[in-house]
Amino acid sequence: MHASPTSGDTKSHLQEIPDHVPSELVHAFDFRTGLGNYPHSTVAELHNGPRIFYSPTHHNAIPGPGTWVPTRAEDIRAVLQDAATFSSAVSRSNSSLRLIPLEMDPPEHPKFRAIMNPIFSPARMKALEEKIRSRAKALIAACREKGACDFVEEFAKPFPVGIFLDIMGLPPDNMTRFLEWEALIMRDKFTRAGAMQQVAAYLQELVEARRKSPTDDLISFAVTAKVDGRPLSDAEVTGMCVLLFIAGLDTVTSSFAFHFRHLAENPADQDSLRHDFTLIPTAVEELFRAYAVVNTNRYATRDVELAGVSIKKGDNVTCSTILASRDPREFEDPNRVLLTRSPNPHNAFSYGPHRCIGSHLARREIITGMEEWLTQVPPFHIKPGAEIVTHGGGVFSMESLPLVW
Ligand code: HEM
Repeated sequence: MHASPTSGDTKSHLQEIPDHVPSELVHAFDFRTGLGNYPHSTVAELHNGPRIFYSPTHHNAIPGPGTWVPTRAEDIRAVLQDAATFSSAVSRSNSSLRLIPLEMDPPEHPKFRAIMNPIFSPARMKALEEKIRSRAKALIAACREKGACDFVEEFAKPFPVGIFLDIMGLPPDNMTRFLEWEALIMRDKFTRAGAMQQVAAYLQELVEARRKSPTDDLISFAVTAKVDGRPLSDAEVTGMCVLLFIAGLDTVTSSFAFHFRHLAENPADQDSLRHDFTLIPTAVEELFRAYAVVNTNRYATRDVELAGVSIKKGDNVTCSTILASRDPREFEDPNRVLLTRSPNPHNAFSYGPHRCIGSHLARREIITGMEEWLTQVPPFHIKPGAEIVTHGGGVFSMESLPLVW
């Protein structure tokens, strides 16, 4: 190990850097803090630097002294595609709970992922659509007459929780309880582990109930499914359901927040969508690209070369969907939001075997939510004087979004 001051950064704290990391590639960029309130622009500036760098700080709880950060979409995809070399089988929850199938590698991974597929089939998504729309309508109706709301608290957070309850076949009176857990999961890594254990304990009871009398929800699929000819254990079923809960919450909440801040701050864009709803699906793709929210991680299972540098077995690699989706080599004028951009091969939902299983649902949620807002609420903008505070991390987020209309 050698201690190295950081390059190109005002934070000059000394960190232990592994010997194989060239000092000129050390850059203490931290995906968690110091990104300002337009974090996507700050991250995009990394495209002016080296193709890959080593950050001694880390954006989440994965152990290790630091992490490699490839900046180009091409290299990020190469990592995400090669699950044998870049493993995902590492705990992200600070607990004994294994999130399935995210924390698995092939050949185990596809067997578990296949169990979840029926839940996300086009037919089931279609059936869910009406529920999604009525949930959006109800949340908007509760705040429309006020002429103002905190979009994050009053819409972007409760909306995906309600959808999760629908997918799981849970009655709506669970809402308050799951909202409280969501708040703890999203607050910080210390409250996260405890809340996830509580969600797991609650779902465990449901697993036992569905083993006795299965219905057509996810838990029933999971308890009746087989992997390698054997039924799934309770821990496996629970790990799958907890992942579904956390994977579809802050990602959707944060995407909504960044997309709606864009519409609130760019009245011409809001106006064009208001006047022609057929533009919304393409516009939402562009908003996913410009405001991707996930930074994920892999670790090397062997020594390997990536983007011209030597990565050693056990090294962490951070794959930022934000960086990938703002790569000027792949997108013309990447920092400009162009709602008609097409084609739009962004990586907001990742790439390779772990590509988001809920991407169609997420699209449906955002498109439907946007349609309902633009139908029911007059032109909205940010409350004058409000400061919009955002947070970095594994999933970028926004503390609140005060809108007025
Ligand atoms: C805008 C919203 C969403 C975004 C941006 C998003 C993004 C992502 C990304 C980047 C990954 C890959 C993580 C990795 O490679 O390490 C992922 C995986 C996953 N997502 Fe999403 N997601 C969203 C919504 C959802 C929803 C609504 C659900 C389900 C209800 C969901 C369920 C999952 C699951 C289960 C995985 C793990 C897949 C696997 O390991 O094979 N996501 N998501």
